[in-house]
Amino acid sequence: MYRDLKKILISKEEIDKRIKDLAAELDRDYQGKRPLMVAILKGSIMFYADLLRAMTIPLELDFMAISSYGNKTKSSGEVRMIKDLDRSIEGRHIIIVEDIVDSGYTLSYLKRMLYSRHPESVKICTLLDKFECREVPLEPDYKGFDIGNEFVVGYGLDYAEKYRNLPEIGILKEEVYENK
Ligand code: IMP
Ligand code: MG
Repeated sequence: MYRDLKKILISKEEIDKRIKDLAAELDRDYQGKRPLMVAILKGSIMFYADLLRAMTIPLELDFMAISSYGNKTKSSGEVRMIKDLDRSIEGRHIIIVEDIVDSGYTLSYLKRMLYSRHPESVKICTLLDKFECREVPLEPDYKGFDIGNEFVVGYGLDYAEKYRNLPEIGILKEEVYENK
């Protein structure tokens, strides 16, 4: 898999360190609130598992699957729900845990959809933010790293379902997706 990478952008050590800080911030902000941590499958699984283990306050888990990309590397703006939450979120504090915010379409759709179910609050915690690529206004409440306009894989993030199990985050060589 490493052959297909232009370079490693963020090492495992850097990820671990940043997650510890984010977890401490969330612990502090959600003290006594028992937040519902919603993982957006599948890209956020590594981040989710590491973040939740670094948090020390009581919390609950739920999962949602959504698709906006298919096998392409550009967002279509179309969002499709594949798996919904198991339980009602009325009156709950929701923290959406996402791998990356790019155009912002996925999360702005999701945020609107969740708010219509009358939660107490909805916040976004993303590992990566491609802020230059935003097409709709969306500001993550918690974020791990800002990155540039490059296609990244690893630590849960994929290209055509590949590279999710790389322990670090790398930039994919253009030729890997250009001649597809
Ligand atoms: P948005 O709707 O454009 O913000 O797209 C967000 C989704 O696109 C993320 O949840 C990822 O699944 C996918 N995505 C965006 N950029 C990348 C990338 O660089 N690598 C892998 N997936 C990406
Ligand atoms: Mg995703």
